Amino acid sequence: MHSRTLTPRLFATSILSLLLAGCGAPTPVVEAYQPTIAQEGKDVVWVPTPTDLAERLLKAAKVRSNDLVYDLGAGDGKIAILAAQKFKATAVGVEFNPDMAEYARKNVQRAGVSDKVTIITGDIFKEDFSKASVVTLYLLPALNLKLRPTLLAMKPGTRVVSNTFTMGLWMADQTIQGDNGNIGYLWIVPANVEGQWSITGLPELGSSPVQLTIRQQFQELNGTLLSNDGQSSQAISGRLNGSSLSFDYRDQTGMLRTVEATLTNGELKGFLKGQPSSPLTAQKTS
Ligand SMILES: C[S@@+](CC[C@H](N)C(=O)[O-])C[C@H]1O[C@@H](n2cnc3c(N)ncnc32)[C@H](O)[C@@H]1O
Repeated sequence: MHSRTLTPRLFATSILSLLLAGCGAPTPVVEAYQPTIAQEGKDVVWVPTPTDLAERLLKAAKVRSNDLVYDLGAGDGKIAILAAQKFKATAVGVEFNPDMAEYARKNVQRAGVSDKVTIITGDIFKEDFSKASVVTLYLLPALNLKLRPTLLAMKPGTRVVSNTFTMGLWMADQTIQGDNGNIGYLWIVPANVEGQWSITGLPELGSSPVQLTIRQQFQELNGTLLSNDGQSSQAISGRLNGSSLSFDYRDQTGMLRTVEATLTNGELKGFLKGQPSSPLTAQKTS
């Protein structure tokens, strides 16, 4: 049998091990998994959003402590962690790669935000993120388009931010510059106001109500205001910011007017800009 000589070094190591065991000290953690930039992911590779852009995107989305932020394709968890650490939000990261998700969970622990951040191992096309008030993306154009119907069905006012990639014909409400030429986008999910409305409170267009037709493409609005006697038809043009809309038209004297209104419980309530004491309301007719 081969016996080991007790060298001073072996002796010191043995004593240290005994002491550590006796003190209940944790065994030093060897990080088993180290991701590499551009490693394969299910639908897109992993590349982390630069911190400066991540911060500006969350700032543009006006993330606050009452927000629930979902990062779809969470990678190492940096966006969810930042949302909790810097913006005090609750955050969920959805990551398909289980090793990456575990790595992100450890980062969450290290960052001390386990009470605010959850990392789910899952597929962004299967997980339910409908309760999010802010959605963050760094995917690909085709993946943004695939998510677009789900995003547009979210609560009006939900903010969506994306690193680099756009949403096809759904134009961004804001463009965000990062350092080093990085670019990001913000969209605010618009309410659906398309259709015919009966609007009261526009006296200069003749007797009430006036028929308002709204055509909507994402947050862009156009249509017509038709007077009750059918004598006057004015084009409208405007946009939505979540549930709030604003549109311009010219009255019969050619003067430019602006309607500002908010959709509440299926009804539009607002006023003519500059005349807050003259309320207007509109009900949907079809
Ligand atoms: C470009 S990285 C972005 C990481 C992080 N959001 C950021 O901005 O730093 C995309 C991440 O999405 C993950 N991913 C790819 N397809 C996915 C899917 N279908 N469901 C969930 N995660 C996915 C990848 O593994 C990768 O970590």
